[in-house]
Amino acid sequence: MTALTLETDVLQNFIDGKWVDVENTTAVTNPANGERIVQVPLSNRYHVEEAVKAAKKAQKDWALVPAPQRAEVLYRVGMIMKDKKERLSRLLTMENGKVLEEARGEVQEGIDMAFYMAGEGRRLFGQTTPAELKDKFAMSQRCPVGVVGIITPWNFPIAIATWKSFPAIVAGNAVIWKPATETPIMAYELAKIFEEAGLPNGVINVVFGKGSEVGDSMVQNEDIRVISFTGSNDTGRNIASDCGKQLKKVSLEMGGKNAVIVMDDADLDLAVEGILWSAFGTSGQRCTACSRVIVHHKVKKILEERLLAAMDHLTIGNGLEEGIKVGPIINEAGLNKIKKYIEVGKQEGATLLAGGSEWESNNQGYYFTPTLFTDAKPDMRIAQEEIFGPVVSLIEVSSFEEAIEVNNQVTYGLSSSIFTRDINRVFKAQRDLDTGIVYVNAGTTGAEIHLPFGGTKGTGNGHRDSGVQALDVFTEWKAIYVDYSGKLQRAQIDTEE
Ligand code: UN1
Repeated sequence: MTALTLETDVLQNFIDGKWVDVENTTAVTNPANGERIVQVPLSNRYHVEEAVKAAKKAQKDWALVPAPQRAEVLYRVGMIMKDKKERLSRLLTMENGKVLEEARGEVQEGIDMAFYMAGEGRRLFGQTTPAELKDKFAMSQRCPVGVVGIITPWNFPIAIATWKSFPAIVAGNAVIWKPATETPIMAYELAKIFEEAGLPNGVINVVFGKGSEVGDSMVQNEDIRVISFTGSNDTGRNIASDCGKQLKKVSLEMGGKNAVIVMDDADLDLAVEGILWSAFGTSGQRCTACSRVIVHHKVKKILEERLLAAMDHLTIGNGLEEGIKVGPIINEAGLNKIKKYIEVGKQEGATLLAGGSEWESNNQGYYFTPTLFTDAKPDMRIAQEEIFGPVVSLIEVSSFEEAIEVNNQVTYGLSSSIFTRDINRVFKAQRDLDTGIVYVNAGTTGAEIHLPFGGTKGTGNGHRDSGVQALDVFTEWKAIYVDYSGKLQRAQIDTEE
């Protein structure tokens, strides 16, 4: 086993290639047992300004490095991450709580993103296109935006950071990154990896601290021209409105209320596996988590029985221990929110079939038992609002059309899934489900990095993380016309001979 020692007890900001002390810090604790792991800086506006100064300077040179060479740094980042995969995964479980197998999956997602975005260094395709006049050439190309700000959440502290920082860097931007204070170790480790890979000073700058101070300073800073944010809906809306006033580009990813639809012809064992994995993996703390099951009335009873039987095997505990399937909840606030929704569900008249209470550990960890409500109605709050915990609600429907309608009847639009063996239903569902991600015969989680990640309606504002689409967030298009006729040719006018 790799030793899990951090080189330091107090994390520092990473600004202009240097590790910088910050006076105020707060403790980061392991959600599995409440033990303190490290101190994280609580930076302020001044630190953001320093980082922006460094980024502005570094970006000018970085943008002039040929993109394939910029990409080589990302290849090296990917290789180092590969070498350190086990260490990173264990540290991730320590700070976030997700079980080790899932932590390894998340680190792998980051490695995949490194190699994928490194490949973009030799693409970054623009278009060449005919011009409307003789002896004239027309093309478009992607240009870096400049200094960009990324704000990342605690639930995928390394994967989401790679979805945002890698495309930004390969496209020639410099980055100011505010990681979540709950999970700063992944940011510290990734910054070290960038340093080892030879990324020039100032191209990535990590400023630890709170959203209300660091995040807000980034949003207000006029030299930061893009904000890419993953987090809560309320915060995202505030960021969008502040950015809107400044005409600052903003990309938002803000959660979901994702459903698995189980039709009467589904492979039920497969559906149970898919639901369990998507609903209770990461203790339900994924934007893509399944928190509704929309089930055809003909198979409702049997699905309930099989789910309950399978849920019995979900062992709860510290994700670093062998055989644990459900790890802790991130913190007390997260736990309290889940508890509140259990009461809401009961009051609304849903039937609690399993779970519904805190799991008592023998330490200071925060745990919640996997929970199944049934007889939920589509408009109940437990079927509408994001709970971010291991809680799933069954809603009965009597037709395929009703299932689609119920799926779409929420304000979010991130992920959806259908279990059916009917090919016609498969194609109708992928057309009519109004989410940004659709799965057929799989749960609602498991997005791959070379496809666009994001959603419709209240989930975001039309942008996508990962995939080639992530480049759209971090680049501006430039249209270029070269007239080689040697005379003035007026577009739209001198088109006739
Ligand atoms: C998130 O929950 O914010 O598709 C990200 C998935 C993971 C990423 C989830 N690859 O569930």
